[in-house]
Amino acid sequence: MSKKVGVGLLGLGTVGSGVASILQNPTDRHPLVSDIEIVKIAVKDLSRTRSTTFPSTILTDDAISVVDNPSVDVVVEVIGGIEPARTLIMRAIKAGKSVVTANKAVIARHGEEIAQAANKSGVYVLIEAAVGGGIPIIEPLKQSLGGNKLNRVTGIINGTTNYILSRMAKGDEVYEKVLNDAQSLGYAEANPAADVEGLDAADKIAILSGLAFGGNIDRSSIPTQGITSLQSRDIDYANQLGYAIKLLAVSERLNKGNEVPNSLPLAVWVQPTLVPRDHPLAGVNGVNNAILIEGEPIGEVMFYGPGAGAGPTASAVVADILNIAGIRLLGDSNQYLDPLLAATSWRKCHLANPNDIVQKNYLRLKTEDSPGVIGHIGNIFGKQNVSIQSIVQFDANSSGAEIVVITHKVSQGQMKHSLDEIKELTAVIGVEAKMCCL
Ligand code: HSE
Repeated sequence: MSKKVGVGLLGLGTVGSGVASILQNPTDRHPLVSDIEIVKIAVKDLSRTRSTTFPSTILTDDAISVVDNPSVDVVVEVIGGIEPARTLIMRAIKAGKSVVTANKAVIARHGEEIAQAANKSGVYVLIEAAVGGGIPIIEPLKQSLGGNKLNRVTGIINGTTNYILSRMAKGDEVYEKVLNDAQSLGYAEANPAADVEGLDAADKIAILSGLAFGGNIDRSSIPTQGITSLQSRDIDYANQLGYAIKLLAVSERLNKGNEVPNSLPLAVWVQPTLVPRDHPLAGVNGVNNAILIEGEPIGEVMFYGPGAGAGPTASAVVADILNIAGIRLLGDSNQYLDPLLAATSWRKCHLANPNDIVQKNYLRLKTEDSPGVIGHIGNIFGKQNVSIQSIVQFDANSSGAEIVVITHKVSQGQMKHSLDEIKELTAVIGVEAKMCCL
């Protein structure tokens, strides 16, 4: 290569520091790593003490000047959040610079606008680090699985919540303490509500849906339930019934709900889910993520690995920088974008009506401990054509009983009608938990 590839790094937090650490230590890595040079780094606070020292000429608090710097060939955005990240990405694209970003929030909401601008400018926007941390999942979906008709993507795609749930499953951990640990380990978002309320997972499943099914969906309409209201008694009951609880993000092709002409209906949701202990996703613990892809003719393929943290996320960012550096080896005369790496949407998709989502369900009902309660509940489910896989009474004492129901697969519309009626029963004090079940 004639000259080094100049990188402008926007952000020097957890991920930015990880990226800088790899690029400054190229020994024993791919030879292309030595051809990449950090030209400038934009930080929020120049006065902050950092574990790695950089020459004073490299650090600046003016992110725009980094994007505009003529020696910067690739802009690496690891600031996070919507603004100013989106504006900086668009500015880089308009200046004809390729972008590498770990920013799932921006891509889930503005991915289409960004992809169109990138295609117009003839540059790449690579996002391997936006989903699954260190797991290669974006490029495999874009490049390696394109010969398949994909049917379903099921993911544990938030490291923070998986770490919390894994520790809670071990028994004696207090939610706040475990969340604090996840923050100190560099797993959680700046505002961890994005993790525990399922919003980060919803961003990521929106991105995976676009890649797996070829079209964008409305991020803001994805039914999303996080883990904030999950109680340890549900983890305990699930365990007794042979399940682990995981926060799953799912996107699947629907064969009905074709109310939008020429558009593929997708059922997409994020929800705590009971996963049978012998299912491959049940063994994914700690900060690890896993994405199970189902398609034809491949069958099932699962991607597994560390889903958050400085090192794994930086690994994915540097892979994207190397992709772009590699393309530069082809020379400036290469004026066409690689259609697989550039990957834009190729058809219309839309979110199906949430009532058409078909799932097995876990319910925990608080009831009076009186004769006939289970019979009344069973009658209502029967009337709504909801078939029950199991119904168990757990705690019974003077203040009532807890009844746990696992249904067979039914539409959420049927579930809603059943629960509306069940809540009216005098013996039913409340529906205290509702989750999905695999
Ligand atoms: N907060 C995210 C997570 C970081 O916990 O998965 C990786 O995107």
